[in-house]
This record gives sequence, C-alpha cells and structure tokens, in this order.
Amino acid sequence: MVIRSFLALLTLVVLISVVLASESAWNGHTTPGSTKPARFAPYYVAPGTRSYDSNSPLVHYSSHWKEIFSSAYIHKSVRSTSHKGAYVTFRFTGTGVEWFGNTGNRYGVAKVYLDGKLVDRVDAWSSTTRQQQRLYWNFGLPYGKHTLKIVNTGEKEDSSRGTKIDMDAIVVTPGSKDISQAAIQTDYATSADFSAVSSSSSPKDGFASSDLAAFNPSETWTLTQKGNTGVHAMQLAVISESHAIIVDKVEHNPLTVDGHPAWAALYNLDTHAVKPLRMQSNSFCAGGTFLSNGTLINVGGNPVVEDHTAAADFGDMDGLQAVRIFEPCDSENVDDCEMFEDHNRVRMASPRWYNTVLRISDGSAMIIGGSLKGGWINNATTNNPTVEYYPPKDINGSNGMPVKLQFLVDTLNSNLFPIAFSLPDGKVFIAANRDAMIYDWQTNTERRLPQIPNGVRVTYPMTGTGLLLPLTPENNYTPEVLLCGGSTVDDTKPGYEISSQDPASAQCSRMVLTDDGIAAGWQVEQMPQARTMPDAVILPTGKILIVNGAGTGISGYGNVVNQVGASNADNPVFTPVLYDPTASAGSRFSSAGLPTSNIPRLYHSIATVVPSGSVMIAGSNPNLDRSEVKYGTEYRVEWLDPPYMTVDRPTLSDVPKKIDFKQTVQFNAKVPSGTAGDVKVVLMDFGYVTHAVHANSRYVELVSSVDGDVVMCNGPPDGKIYPPGPGWLFVVANGIPSKGVKIMVGDGRSPEVNEAAIANVLANTSADQYDEDKKEKKFEDDSE
Ligand SMILES: *[C@@H]1O[C@H](CO)[C@@H](O)[C@H](O)[C@H]1NC(C)=O
Ligand SMILES: *[C@@H]1O[C@H](CO)[C@@H](O)[C@H](O)[C@H]1NC(C)=O
Ligand SMILES: *[C@@H]1O[C@H](CO)[C@@H](O)[C@H](O)[C@H]1NC(C)=O
Ligand SMILES: *[C@@H]1O[C@H](CO)[C@@H](O)[C@H](O)[C@H]1NC(C)=O
Repeated sequence: MVIRSFLALLTLVVLISVVLASESAWNGHTTPGSTKPARFAPYYVAPGTRSYDSNSPLVHYSSHWKEIFSSAYIHKSVRSTSHKGAYVTFRFTGTGVEWFGNTGNRYGVAKVYLDGKLVDRVDAWSSTTRQQQRLYWNFGLPYGKHTLKIVNTGEKEDSSRGTKIDMDAIVVTPGSKDISQAAIQTDYATSADFSAVSSSSSPKDGFASSDLAAFNPSETWTLTQKGNTGVHAMQLAVISESHAIIVDKVEHNPLTVDGHPAWAALYNLDTHAVKPLRMQSNSFCAGGTFLSNGTLINVGGNPVVEDHTAAADFGDMDGLQAVRIFEPCDSENVDDCEMFEDHNRVRMASPRWYNTVLRISDGSAMIIGGSLKGGWINNATTNNPTVEYYPPKDINGSNGMPVKLQFLVDTLNSNLFPIAFSLPDGKVFIAANRDAMIYDWQTNTERRLPQIPNGVRVTYPMTGTGLLLPLTPENNYTPEVLLCGGSTVDDTKPGYEISSQDPASAQCSRMVLTDDGIAAGWQVEQMPQARTMPDAVILPTGKILIVNGAGTGISGYGNVVNQVGASNADNPVFTPVLYDPTASAGSRFSSAGLPTSNIPRLYHSIATVVPSGSVMIAGSNPNLDRSEVKYGTEYRVEWLDPPYMTVDRPTLSDVPKKIDFKQTVQFNAKVPSGTAGDVKVVLMDFGYVTHAVHANSRYVELVSSVDGDVVMCNGPPDGKIYPPGPGWLFVVANGIPSKGVKIMVGDGRSPEVNEAAIANVLANTSADQYDEDKKEKKFEDDSE
C-alpha cells in the first residue's frame, strides 16, 4: 500500500521534473558570459591559461604560410602551409603548451620541437574535416622559458590528398615555480604525445619521485609520480590485471575522441598508456559496480553541462537515467572495449545524480538515492529517496519501479553518495549524513542504528569515507564498519554561510554490526589530521591507508565563501596515514615512513589498490571545467608503494579463473623462505571509487591450508559473504602479499532477469527528459 502510493508520488515527481525541464538543464554554475552553446571542440582556454591566436605578433612564421578566414576557426582565421620545411616558432614562459589547428584529408605530417629537441611527429590527416583540434600538448614542462617549433615535413599518409599543416592558436599554461618543482624531474623531450591525431597512445611521462632518504626495504614507502590520466579521474575501477577504467564528466579534457574531448578512458597500469572511450551521455556524477557476470555498469549522471560544454557535434545525451554497460575486458589489448548505452532499452526508472551503486548478495546492483537533477547539496525538492535495482526487481510489488527509503528522507540535506556495504547476512549497511541503518532489501525494512557521535556528517557535501573492515573466518565473518572524516558544518546553512576554511572532522567511528556491537554503539577515535574527502583503501595486508582530502571546507565547487579558485575546500592533506584495525585502540594510526606528496587531491580525487599491490592516486578537480587556477584540474598520477613492494614476495601460479562458493581449489604459491608459518589467502574487491565512496570494497579471508608449494582454499561460504562477481586473490605470507590474480567468484552467471519488471519500467518511465528541451536550441554550425 505504502509503496503503491509512493509510486504515484514518484510519477508526480517525474512529471514535475518534465515540466521543470523547460528551464536550463544545468542549475549549477556557469562561467559568466558563456551563455551561448558552443562547438565541443578540443580548443578551450582553461582559466589560468592564455591563448595566442595564429596572427599574434609573437607567433613567427617562416617561408610560405597563408592566412585563411572562416568563422569556424579560432578568432576567424588560421595560417596554413603545404610547403616542406615551412615552420613556425613561438617563445613562451610556462609549464605547458598546446597547439591547435585543423585536421582533414588534405593534411600531412609535422615535427614538433621543444627547446630544440624533437618531441613529436604529428599526423594531421583525418578522414573527416575537423576544426579546433589539439594537435600537440605537453603539460609537464619545467617552469621557465621554452621555444616551440613546428615544421612541415612534407610527408603524408598514402591516403592523404595533401601536406597541409595549420596553425590556429597556441595555448600556454603559465604555471608557477612551485608547480614545476612538484611536477618534473624530466626528460620531457622524450615523452610521446597521445592526442587523438597522433596514433601513438603512450602517456605523458612527467616524472618525480620522492623516495625516502634512509632505505630500509621492509619499512620504506615510496611515492612516485608517473603517468597522466588524459581525462580527469573522477571515477575509477580496476577492470583487469593491466587496466583501470576512468570515468569523468563532460569537460575539456586533453584526451580526445572523434574530434571532441573524451570523458572516459582506459588506463594501462603497466605502460601508463591511455585509450579514450566513446561515451554518449554525461556521466557526472555517476556510480558503478561489477555484476555477478563480470560486466561493469556505470549508472546515473547529469545532462550535459549546458552553456559550457554543449556538445553539438557529438549529440548530447542526458545521463540522469543512464545505465551504461561495459562488458568484461580482460585482455591487455583493449582496442575493442567500449561503453554501451541505449536509453530506449536500458535505463533507470528515475533520474539520479550522486547515487551509490552496490553489488548485493544475488549479484545484481542496488542503486541507492541521489538527486533528481544536478545541483549541490540535496533538498526535499531534488531528493530521490528510493532504491532501484539493475536488472530491475519486483520487491513487494514494485515491479521494477523505485522503492521508497524513508531513511533518505530523514537524512536530508547532506545525504548524497550514501556509504553502503553489502553485509554477511545479505542485508545492506547504509550511512548518510549523521545516520546509519541496516536495510533488508528483500522485505524493504530498515533497522536504524545509533547516530554517528559528535554531530559528524559523512556524506556529500560533508564528505567522509567508509569501509567494511576485513571479514575473516576467525571473526566468523562478523561485520564491522569504519567511517572516517567528514564535517560538522550545519547542512541547513546556505553556501554563503559556509567557508572553505571551516575545519573538517578528524573523527573515525567504528561499530560491530551485531546486536551486542550495536548496543555498545560507535567507538570513536581521532585521525592525526582532520580530513574532508579522504579516501580509505584496504591493502592486501588488511591494513587501511587513509589518503587525499582537505583539512578545511566541504566538497564541491563554486558554492561557499573564501573559495580557493572554485574549490569549496582548502588546506590539502599531503601525508597519508596507515590504520591498523587489529591493533588496540589508541595505537592504530601511524604515519611512520609515509611520504608526503605535493599534489593537492581535493574534490573529485580517487585512490585504489591495483593488482601489483601499489596504490594508485589520481584526480582532483574542484571545477566546472578544466582549470589551471589553484586548485586546478589534476591529471598526474601518483603511485604509493607500500614497503612490501620492494621485498621478496609470494608468487602464484595455476590460480583457477573461477572459484565457486564453498568450492575447494588448489594452486601453487612460492613463499619466500622464513615466511612459511603464517600464510593466508585473501579475496579482495578493490571497489568502484568516486567521491570518497569505495562502493563494493571488500576484504574476505578464505579458509586455506598449505602443503609445500600447494595452497588449498575454499571459496567464500556464500554470496552474502562475498557477492558473486569478480575479485582479486592474494596470498599473504607473514604480512607480505603476492600480486593479485583476478578470479571470478560464484558461477559467473548473469544476475537474474525479471522481464516483466523491465517491461514495466520501460512502459512507465521515459528517459532523457532534458533532451527534448535541448532539441529546440539550434547550434549554429558554421563549419565549412
Ligand atoms: C534544492 O536544490 C536545487 C538544486 O541545487 C536548487 O535549485 C533549489 O533551489 C533547492 N531548493 C530549495 C527549496 O532549497
Ligand atoms: C514485503 O514482502 C515480504 C514478503 O514477501 C513481507 O515479509 C514484508 O513485510 C513486506 N514489506 C513491506 C514493507 O511491505
Ligand atoms: C551481464 O548481465 C547484464 C545484466 O543483465 C547484461 O547486460 C550483460 O550483457 C551480461 N554480461 C555478460 C558478459 O553476460
Ligand atoms: C505500468 O504500465 C503498465 C502497462 O502499460 C500498466 O498496466 C501499469 O499499471 C503501469 N504501472 C504503474 C505503476 O504505473
């Protein structure tokens, strides 16, 4: 009954939002003056950068160049040459440079030199004519004076009908001394370019390592900056032994695809090469999970950020109801791996921005909460206080439609991106704002837990982080959750009463989720530093690394007073801290030996363990679109290597590809001598990381025994202990883990499909409500 009347209410809400769609699709913040839809070309002058047009007196041409005029060109003109040996030079001071021009079927090859060294060979041929393309970029220069020289080689591809090379504009990132010290050690001259026109896909390689002085391999952590994500790393999940998927929002990232900026990519964890993914709808700010069959879904988002990245040349799609499907991609060659999207056939029943997506005990995805449209802090008008499932389920007659969660009504306003974990009894822990509960999704019943102590809020925009602590046979898989950081700022205050300088919380709260544990309540401890937007990462050793975040302010950009650039937060925390959940209270935190970074990792940062055991740290972008103003858009990747990375480690062979529940499997493990006594087999889910939410992150120790080099272990007891789906198997000998091996847990089958529920969702909902609005706005395409 309750559910049915709620459905009526929801239908009303959906109808109301269709009516509201006649207003601007984006109710966030737009750059003043940029109200006209523009071509979504790579050319973009990020705040903090400077553009020099082709006819700037600072750009020097030698030999035969002619000026051509068209409104499709930057400032309506371009310089062009087909002459072998014709060149252009440009001197600048800064840390980055980008060259823009046209590509097409009459274009040839140029060589690019920086400070006299050949840095790239750019082939401007493409089968389609494209304007305002980024032909070369390098953001990793040491701060100082540089000379860019571009020479027409007279060479071309066989299929090209000419040897044209164009100069439309140059964009310089002035940078600063600090940034250069942070960024580079350098042989930038050898770094290869990976812009779309060049077929090479190896990454920028600006490099700095801050190894600790005293080297004791068993205690030494190292932090190395290597690699560049090409698209900003807002969301990240490891998909295979060699790759991670990165999903961002629609914005002017340097990596391009089909002539426009890309907003998702596959990152090679070994070579650091980046492959752009084609995306259709705006994935800002989606969540994701693997399903029981290994397919990754990416769910929710926002309409394209109108007025700023209106994407007339790729056709913008509303991402609010998107379910994007990324089929398993396990080989090192990722050429054929793509994101699939078709909202007519596959979509959510309701719009969601900032939803959490969780794999549950039957291997399907629970999609929790979110906002009906993009904005900032949630409120009663924008709230979507429901769960739905993918594939859709029939829960108490819901027939695929959203099921109301009173908890998400009671936890307004700061309740977006709820922290959620599937528990060993199949129920789901959910924390939002200052509250927490255990949700029985099968019966749609909530069990409220004690409030988080001391008024600490843990979800967006008062963002903390959370983990389910390791589940072990010794503790009888008893669940215990840990919530760290966040803020006590009053979530009913308007932005103009909140400051980027308001202190974050240092509190961690921990509770055992049994009747006794709940009766005992939250146990409180303090991190050495306060953090909002921390990332908590379980290492294969079972210890927890807390990294990233800010000492003051809250999540988001453009909302509070004393913004730094656009950031709502300030005072980045640069040193990680290690938390040992098994140590006694009072001695769990340690920063001993942990290196300090110099790259701020604020809003939209990520951290995850990768199969090698290293921790990948990337992202930070408290901005509407790419910015080079503090705190700018960060593309550099850091690798934090725990001490075990440099010692003799267990090596595994013949690990089966699949382990079913309760199934006994055996494989080989060579364990370094002296560590044989204490050998554990651990199954990990690295999670889907975004907005400090490590959904699905899981650490389950398996029952195992060792005989010489042979390890026997049992699959997890059932899908409640480890929801069926992909995992990473590690052998940990005396605290030293092997590398992780990907393994499918369960039978690898697809989650159950309820055709009637799918049909009901498709019959009773419509998708992409904002698209209708967009169709009426004509983009003046004035290309040739
Ligand atoms: C609710 O949030 C939306 C999106 O941020 C905003 O436009 C609206 O004004 C808010 N409504 C109230 C009543 O605060
Ligand atoms: C949902 O259905 C189950 C049985 O299928 C029942 O036990 C439960 O009480 C129902 N819950 C609600 C909230 O109606
Ligand atoms: C896994 O299941 C999902 C949901 O039904 C489906 O879309 C996907 O194609 C399946 N993947 C595989 C590899 O079967
Ligand atoms: C959904 O659509 C079906 C078929 O059109 C209809 O019978 C049903 O009543 C609808 N349900 C809801 C909840 O609107």
